[in-house]
Amino acid sequence: MVKIFKLKNVISIKDFERSDIEYILDEAEKLEKIALSQEISNELNGKILGTMFFEPSTRTRLSFETAMKRLNGNCIGFQDSFCSSVSKGESIADTAKMFEGYSDALVIRHKVEGVSKFISDIVDIPVINAGDGAGQHPTQTLLDLYTIRKELNTIDNLKIALVGDLKFGRTVHSLSYALGLFNNVKLYLVSPNELKMPGGVVHDLNISNIEFEEVEDIKDIIDDVDVLYVTRIQKERFTDQDEYEKIKGAYIINKKLLEGKDLIVMHPLPRIDEISGDVDDTKYNKYYIQAFNAVPVRMAILKTLINNNSKKPIK
Ligand code: NCD
Repeated sequence: MVKIFKLKNVISIKDFERSDIEYILDEAEKLEKIALSQEISNELNGKILGTMFFEPSTRTRLSFETAMKRLNGNCIGFQDSFCSSVSKGESIADTAKMFEGYSDALVIRHKVEGVSKFISDIVDIPVINAGDGAGQHPTQTLLDLYTIRKELNTIDNLKIALVGDLKFGRTVHSLSYALGLFNNVKLYLVSPNELKMPGGVVHDLNISNIEFEEVEDIKDIIDDVDVLYVTRIQKERFTDQDEYEKIKGAYIINKKLLEGKDLIVMHPLPRIDEISGDVDDTKYNKYYIQAFNAVPVRMAILKTLINNNSKKPIK
């Protein structure tokens, strides 16, 4: 059967079916050698990716740029609104319209939920959500799933713990939705009471097939899980910094806690102190591989979206 990918934009992982996810993961697998610079590609020769980053980023922006360049495409954009006319008062809509003229696809990160959806409604090139506030981060989810499948050969039948800031962490929101598309996944939502998964996500999990449990003490579940997906407490999303000070350091994953366990440790990064440095040199550490996997996965996304959507003249 010929598989097709029907989405024009990557805004929310809720727009994906399991077959769409598998399409991207399979494509990414084929692109690994190019990501590793063992093969050269001209797949996106002459194409341009636009990047609008209104929030800090290391991996997401750099891996998108690497992905584009490994396919012999080019990138334009800004990593700080101060470097753009937004700082002169230009609207984000007008700014996006300029990218529509100059590029073949647009990646956007913004602190406000829903911004990438808004942009996708006003431009005719594919739009990719690279994180919208505490909303979603769908391309991170695709590379997370790619990492799980590569390391454990399956996504079905796994027990996965999402640990840390489940309230503000957009990566865990997208990942929970996506895991609901796989079979027999058990999710443990591990967080302090103040940072529990938002009601909306819990509601959606309740009406999906996925089995999940909310827990506060990581020791209650650590013997049972295949994947420990750790996240940073999202300091920048707290309105009250005293609250952050009270909660920070709630979970620290160290080598001693992991000893004898049969699991992998993932993290979207950046980490602050939630995974100790002594885990880095252990077999549990999959977070650096996960960060590398961003390249083949984002290559697959860019290749698919750009090749499926030919650019039209601006109206
Ligand atoms: C995450 C993000 O920006 O949501 N980072 C990333 O893209 N790899 C996680 C975070 O900032 O904590």
